[in-house]
Amino acid sequence: MLLGKRVEKRTKTALDAKIEYYGTDLRLPQFVEITSKPRHELMRHPIYQTLESEAEIRIFMESHVFAVWDFMTILKVLQRRLTCTETPWQPPMDPNATRLINEIVLEEESDKVGDGVYMSHFDLYRAAMEEIGADLTQINRFIESLQAGQRVKEALRPLAIPDATKTFVLETMKIQKAKTHEVVACFLMGRENVIPDMFRRFLETLDNESQAKRRMMKIYLERHIDLDEDSHAPMGRELMKRICGSDSRKWHEAIEITCHSLRMRRFLWDGVLHEIERNRVHHAMKVAGTVAAIAAVPERF
Ligand SMILES: [Fe+2]
Repeated sequence: MLLGKRVEKRTKTALDAKIEYYGTDLRLPQFVEITSKPRHELMRHPIYQTLESEAEIRIFMESHVFAVWDFMTILKVLQRRLTCTETPWQPPMDPNATRLINEIVLEEESDKVGDGVYMSHFDLYRAAMEEIGADLTQINRFIESLQAGQRVKEALRPLAIPDATKTFVLETMKIQKAKTHEVVACFLMGRENVIPDMFRRFLETLDNESQAKRRMMKIYLERHIDLDEDSHAPMGRELMKRICGSDSRKWHEAIEITCHSLRMRRFLWDGVLHEIERNRVHHAMKVAGTVAAIAAVPERF
């Protein structure tokens, strides 16, 4: 784990007590209860109240787009494990799980965004970034490096993005070695469902004309509100039940990885917040510098 040991230890103590309390009774309701505390803590992160301007939304999106990209890794791991993506084809072991994953992949990779227009959510997000004037250089450079055959770590290294964003992505990549129930837990809890509220609040502050210009962002948000709340989240919970069953050890591991991924998300938000604050200081200094420069100009008349 990449997080500091101090944080890990402190959280683990409280977590262990809870897990111990439920013992072999660990199931979905206990999983939800235990993971709700760190989840609510994350929802109270100052980043959700911080974004004040389009410039700050841009900074946010320039990092968050990497989380939108790396979410697909979790989904692809599940697709490989729970459906058949190899030849010769073999019938699925669990058709319900296969159905869920295929349905989510269909929408995440090729969602319908207009008449005869299909787009991945990642590209939808990039289009929303473009609309708002965010800088796509780093994410595009990253994708080009991957297309040229570079590994994720190498492709990330030269990018001008916060270190926390790089760490977050590298940590997500470790999911490829996790057990299937751990991947499902990350999938269920690592969804971007905390994002729509934040953007919605921001969109509300814009006037009608500005809102009309944010078409892609609106589609992105609406799709996530519809899909996450109405279908993917309940289906994901069903999948958890099917995969963990009555094995309390699996539920225990699912809780631990969920708490870890929530901590990583907080770590990502801390990095973005730091970037926004740095930008504010820079902006304030620029304004102060301009005022001082104007004041220093001698009056000619
Ligand atoms: Fe999505």
